[in-house]
Amino acid sequence: MIISMIVAIDLNNGIGKGDDQLAYISADLKRFKALTIGHTILMGRKTFEALPKGALPNRRNVVITRQGDYKAPNIDVVSSVDEALNLCKNDEKVFVIGGGEIYNIFLPDTDKLYLTVIDHRFNEATVFFPEINMGEWTVENEEGPFTDEKTQLAYKYQNLKRK
Ligand SMILES: NC(=O)c1ccc[n+]([C@@H]2O[C@H](COP(=O)([O-])OP(=O)(O)OC[C@H]3O[C@@H](n4cnc5c(N)ncnc54)[C@H](OP(=O)(O)O)[C@@H]3O)[C@@H](O)[C@H]2O)c1
Repeated sequence: MIISMIVAIDLNNGIGKGDDQLAYISADLKRFKALTIGHTILMGRKTFEALPKGALPNRRNVVITRQGDYKAPNIDVVSSVDEALNLCKNDEKVFVIGGGEIYNIFLPDTDKLYLTVIDHRFNEATVFFPEINMGEWTVENEEGPFTDEKTQLAYKYQNLKRK
């Protein structure tokens, strides 16, 4: 099992405002799909409930919540980090897809980070990615900068691997 995180962060590590994303960059959403398709995605209950059509197709959707009776179509429910890791132990690739609380609690177990770094500081951000200690990571690959036509935001992709 290789555990990766996929996240779009701004220059302050901002990742969200309330229940919403800071920005929607369509090329980034396509990349998210290409990376995760056929694999397991692991997310917090709030991030799951923000998905417009529920579970994402063609992936195993695992949702973490403390609510013992939580149910929704096409998801597996877990109630702790250990339960999540145990449920997914035979899965080749597990992608942690947010949100803030879940990035925090799984970061120590994470092997790879797929970052989309948005070259902007969103004043409205209320949810943040934990601090990334660059001493622990090697930059494996970097692409960009690109500019999103619709939002005019500049961004780059940075793939980090734990040393
Ligand atoms: N930029 C990005 O790439 C990106 C990606 C995803 C999300 N986001 C943003 O992140 C924000 C949502 O993040 P969030 O931190 O508010 O919520 P979240 O991490 O998605 O979900 C939090 C929920 O997870 C459950 N949980 C947390 N710790 C747990 C534990 N130790 N054991 C069991 N369950 C646990 C709880 O569910 P219960 O309350 O049901 O017990 C908790 O309320 C939104 O703004 C969203 O747009 C950004």
